[in-house]
Amino acid sequence: MTTAPSTPPTTVPVFHHVGIQTTDLDNAVAWYEDFFGGRRSWSLTEFTPLTESRLPGIRALTEVVVGNLRIHLFERDGDPAVPEQSRTQFQHVCVSVGDPAELASLRRRWFELYGSGRYAFALSEQATGIVNDHDGVQSFYALDVNGLEFEFTYVPRTAPTR
Ligand SMILES: [Fe+2]
Repeated sequence: MTTAPSTPPTTVPVFHHVGIQTTDLDNAVAWYEDFFGGRRSWSLTEFTPLTESRLPGIRALTEVVVGNLRIHLFERDGDPAVPEQSRTQFQHVCVSVGDPAELASLRRRWFELYGSGRYAFALSEQATGIVNDHDGVQSFYALDVNGLEFEFTYVPRTAPTR
């Protein structure tokens, strides 16, 4: 038995960044800088327990900014995408909301829809908790019905590096 979803939220998420996995961060950053004319914005080499559980073995992350496009390149062991095979290509896409309450609301809605029985989910992985970074950024991660990962984030105005 399925249940109808409640009224859609009034939150309008905006695109924030795309996360791209690489096995060679320096190589990838150089290419994104040179191809798009982007610039390095910030880098991380220490990660939250949530990130380390989502992406075991992550070594470093660098944001490259091209105009309004943010690309989060992160280094981790893995295999390159194989064009002849059907597989997910991007690691995650991030959208942002303007208020922490909207973030919590989106997370509740994800669980509401997951539990409604209206959809077939390729994976049973549940939405993560909301993690708080040291600079006030809040995020959670959740899969769509295909198993593609979304990051939902709230970035306070006082966190200019994001
Ligand atoms: Fe991200």
